[in-house]
Amino acid sequence: MRLVRSPGHWRHWLGGCGVWLSPLGLCLGAACGLQGPGVALYVAQVAINATVAEDVLLSVAFSCPGVPTIEWRYASHKGAQRIVAWQPGTQAHVAPSHQHRVCTFDNGSLQLLRVGPHDAGVYVVTVSEQLLGSSLGTVALHVSEVLYEDLHFVAVVLAFLTAVGAVLAGLLWVCNRCGRLWKQRLLTGGSSTERVELQDMAY
Ligand SMILES: *[C@@H]1O[C@H](CO)[C@@H](O)[C@H](O)[C@H]1NC(C)=O
Ligand SMILES: *[C@@H]1O[C@H](CO)[C@@H](O)[C@H](O)[C@H]1NC(C)=O
Repeated sequence: MRLVRSPGHWRHWLGGCGVWLSPLGLCLGAACGLQGPGVALYVAQVAINATVAEDVLLSVAFSCPGVPTIEWRYASHKGAQRIVAWQPGTQAHVAPSHQHRVCTFDNGSLQLLRVGPHDAGVYVVTVSEQLLGSSLGTVALHVSEVLYEDLHFVAVVLAFLTAVGAVLAGLLWVCNRCGRLWKQRLLTGGSSTERVELQDMAY
């Protein structure tokens, strides 16, 4: 018997079992209905670029007829970790690693205070209700280190100093040229009094 069937095969097979499948289908549909539209989650920004020491808002909003539990997890190359869980209007349970470093909002948003490079990664939010099911969203956070910005700043300053140096060198060269021309003019084409003075100076 072939394991791969064409869609036609399936339709034929399903048609034969239609009587059996329709109650099952209804059950599945009902279950999906409970899982899907019951809890809806909206993520405002799925990717955020931040710089070190910035406060970052992972902004979400949800709709849920019941009382939902909101949970944020953090996933990096080191693994996944629960940061915080709460129900709107109640005290949030914050993991020790993020104590005093996060703010929670009733709409499910999470604010990270003064982010560092180690905060970069993927944040997963789950809004769940016991009977209505759950909905999940992700936000990828990229944190650029100040070091790079410092280097950028140093590069700009260096470029500026180089430019100023070049201008000064040019000015010096021009002055030098002018000085030499002036001296030449004094020695060759200057007035007689000037020549006399110069001769006086020579003796
Ligand atoms: C974040 O930065 C990367 C490059 O580092 C860029 O490709 C991306 O478009 C930026 N995203 C946002 C939302 O600014
Ligand atoms: C959630 O609430 C916070 C604080 O009131 C707000 O800044 C943010 O924009 C809200 N997010 C959405 C997606 O509405």
